[in-house]
Amino acid sequence: MNEQRNIRYVSIVTTIHFVLGFLVLLCALAFSWNALGRRVMNAVVGLQFLCGLVLAGTYGMQHVPLPARIWEHAGLALVALIAYGMAMVFGKRPGGGRIALALSIVGLLCVCVAVYLGLHMAGQA
Ligand code: HEM
Repeated sequence: MNEQRNIRYVSIVTTIHFVLGFLVLLCALAFSWNALGRRVMNAVVGLQFLCGLVLAGTYGMQHVPLPARIWEHAGLALVALIAYGMAMVFGKRPGGGRIALALSIVGLLCVCVAVYLGLHMAGQA
């Protein structure tokens, strides 16, 4: 009974992580280009990062080993989070627009590869 509840819990968290993954990707494409958008990106990537940690925790709860490429996946998510955070800071500085744009592009690329790796880990790509 307990095990069944755990399995349901894992599948709910996985579904949320999956849906948020595509929300992050859409937001990265639409909102990476100005100061307000970068703030939105920071929030959604942060939320997805937390959701990923909860998902990894549910694997631990079930004593299931984490997928092989989890460190690349989580590392890219962390780099994206840092890149959008720094883009926000540079975007506010006079003359920092170009660096902010470059960091946003780094964030966008990291999000794209993280989504691909996520789908790969889930056996969908
Ligand atoms: C930018 C941040 C992230 C994005 C966009 C992202 C996106 C995704 C996507 C789209 C999937 C495929 C889900 C599925 O098909 O069911 C996935 C799977 C996964 N992600 Fe993430 N993720 C991010 C961060 C993280 C973090 C920080 C962790 C944990 C440390 C994590 C842990 C996982 C795990 C364990 C899976 C495999 C789920 C399965 O086997 O079904 N993710 N991710």
